[in-house]
Amino acid sequence: MLAMLGLLVAGLGGALGRDAPAALEASYKERIQGLLNASAEAAAQHLSKRLALKSELFGGYEFEYGEQVRWLHGCLDIVVDRDSVENCVLRQLQALTALCGVPLSKDSKTIVEKHVKHLLKAKSYPSLGMRLQQISGASVFVFQKQPGSSDVDASPAIQASVLMAAARCGEALGKKNYLDDAESWFLGLQKIYPESLWNESFISYHRSAIMWESLAVTALHVGEQSSFHEDLEEYLHRFEAFLRRAWEGNAEYWSFASARALAIRWPSKAAKKQRLLLKRWATEHVDRFLGRSESFRLQKGPEVGISQGILARIGGARYTCGPLQGLASLAAMLMDAELVQVVLQLLEKDVNRYQLSQLNPGPLGEGSETSETLGAFFRDDDQLQLEKRSSMRVDDTAMCLLAISHMLEALTAIKGVVVNTERIDKQEEL
Ligand SMILES: *[C@@H]1O[C@H](CO)[C@@H](O)[C@H](O)[C@H]1NC(C)=O
Ligand SMILES: *[C@@H]1O[C@H](CO)[C@@H](O)[C@H](O)[C@H]1NC(C)=O
Repeated sequence: MLAMLGLLVAGLGGALGRDAPAALEASYKERIQGLLNASAEAAAQHLSKRLALKSELFGGYEFEYGEQVRWLHGCLDIVVDRDSVENCVLRQLQALTALCGVPLSKDSKTIVEKHVKHLLKAKSYPSLGMRLQQISGASVFVFQKQPGSSDVDASPAIQASVLMAAARCGEALGKKNYLDDAESWFLGLQKIYPESLWNESFISYHRSAIMWESLAVTALHVGEQSSFHEDLEEYLHRFEAFLRRAWEGNAEYWSFASARALAIRWPSKAAKKQRLLLKRWATEHVDRFLGRSESFRLQKGPEVGISQGILARIGGARYTCGPLQGLASLAAMLMDAELVQVVLQLLEKDVNRYQLSQLNPGPLGEGSETSETLGAFFRDDDQLQLEKRSSMRVDDTAMCLLAISHMLEALTAIKGVVVNTERIDKQEEL
């Protein structure tokens, strides 16, 4: 169980009005920033090495350390009874995007550049089991349904994820023109996933939310002068409205991807009414995550029970980078001091417990660390058992890197406050 250390300098919200920034004690903020920074650097270094393992592109998908110790490099090497080519492609694209979310070292930059150019220029992506198909002016990515099978399929989530990776990495590399070609990918998305199919082929809220997040990230990085900016915004607006209806229609729906999407859409130049809706939707994400009703919150005030709720829900000891990807962004958007604190404590635990380092050999055991796995994150045993694997998959690290980079971004908006304990002591004496 995590100790609640009273590191929080809350209460400012009440004194300064609702939107007053959350604040953290200055030395705590400095320490946690340092810890997250070092962890992100190690994770990014690992991810870039991994993507380029064996000099292939999009390599290093999964490292098994159970009965056999081996790398499953590409998406056609997956273990089919527990994984799919589509998920593999999505995870590899997510890893590339995560890498582009932190400042790139010289080596990572070279590797990222190679991957993005490959996405832009190639028509065939053997390590992803995917190729590009032209359908009347539109470009559609099709992937093999199974390793060894000639059946192919298209996926809106993959289509949106490629857009996101190119947009995010183009920005990170300072190359806006990377997106010029992307218009035909967007046309491809509209072709395989027109509005008439949104409801009809609704797979899960989470799947749809991943698409929303990808498109929101793309829109953020596509310049207004771009030829498809307006069409993208229009599509995004309508898709958001659709997801909102779905959200209202089912109280069980929740996804870290929609939490993240809300935070991305928040600073946009949306009208006041739209911003109010975004904020309400964000608050509802926290409520649903904690399993508390709106009336409970109104009655008890916004801050009641956040920390206990989150800890009860995901446990203070397990790997928690998944939900933290969304919660970190929400904490900053809602300027919720308690949420900030809980997210930070859980992240610190993930770094200390679930990241391979010289001090933490993880499931590989003492003395078995290699330069290939150093900096990687791994999952807790319960989760691995549930997924029937003894392995480190690329998303185990990508999710943590995303959560950490979102939190580092959030921290820049959170004040560090020096608490003068001497004066407090004196006052207590009086
Ligand atoms: C970590 O901090 C250093 C020094 O401030 C900075 O140059 C680097 O970009 C940071 N890394 C990440 C991943 O934020
Ligand atoms: C999807 O279609 C069903 C049946 O027509 C309808 O009841 C539901 O509200 C629709 N969902 C959304 C999110 O529009």
